[in-house]
Amino acid sequence: RPHRASRLPRHAEARVRAREQAPAKVNLFLHVTGRRADGYHLLDSLAVFASLADTLTASPAHALSLAVTGPFADRIGPGEENLVLRAARSLCPNGRGALIALEKRIPVAAGLGGGSSDAAAALRLLSRLWGVPVPSTDAAVRLGADVPVCLAAAPARMLGIGEVVAPAPPLPPGLGMVLANPGLTLATPEVFRARSGPFDAPAEPPPRFPDAAALAAWLRGTRNALEDAAVALCPPVADVLAACAALPGALIARMSGSGPTCFALFATVAEAEAAAASLARAEPHWFIWGGGLYRDRRGGL
Ligand code: C5P
Repeated sequence: RPHRASRLPRHAEARVRAREQAPAKVNLFLHVTGRRADGYHLLDSLAVFASLADTLTASPAHALSLAVTGPFADRIGPGEENLVLRAARSLCPNGRGALIALEKRIPVAAGLGGGSSDAAAALRLLSRLWGVPVPSTDAAVRLGADVPVCLAAAPARMLGIGEVVAPAPPLPPGLGMVLANPGLTLATPEVFRARSGPFDAPAEPPPRFPDAAALAAWLRGTRNALEDAAVALCPPVADVLAACAALPGALIARMSGSGPTCFALFATVAEAEAAAASLARAEPHWFIWGGGLYRDRRGGL
């Protein structure tokens, strides 16, 4: 007799189907302040989240499975190495089931923490579905250095190798952002390995930034310490940085994370959207996005 998989009643599935956004992480600055004995680098970074986001949904199932759709679905597999499945297994090693769907809109291996944000969203989602606690930042960092800050999905300071998430000063509301990526990828370990020169001092942000101009002025005294290494490994990053800096209204342009995605910051979402549209016309083969910050009420979500 053929085995028939038992199925949950449809209404039960609809009732507990849960959804989480996994927003793209952008490092407004990223200082490398030292190196641990195990090779990991000590960071000081101010991470914010763009309203560009992957979406995860989950419904109860007997086995754990993942389906990936969306514009960047072909760049990652739904296999065991996918961070969503690794996050699920770390949350419940005894093997609880869920039918997970991931819509991949964030470029992959791009410096936007997409995989880490997916893992963090999976932890938030499945902790609700399974009724288990969200893991500590010390446990979450084992999935990836950006996972703890992605669990917060709100502006935060990243310290340690990423396991320390500290409050960030309030940011001016309504900020706009353009993200630009030349359609290339960079492997984070290679960028860290290629970094050279002295370590950076930690950056101490003021208690608040009164407006976007003040934020940009303060950021100009910081840097992304991985930018030179990323440009050496992937020379088009220099062109992306220059294009972002030249956008009308751009307050500051910089690379995010280990690259190659670069961002430009704007005082308003409307300026960022207009700049993104003009850059997309000039560079039709690049990935370009313009919008606001995740959950910023005036950020145009
Ligand atoms: O934690 P994640 O998988 O994102 O890190 C990828 C690689 O980047 C690490 O294996 C390490 O080589 C490098 N890395 C580092 N210091 C960090 C974060 C990442 O050296 N704080």
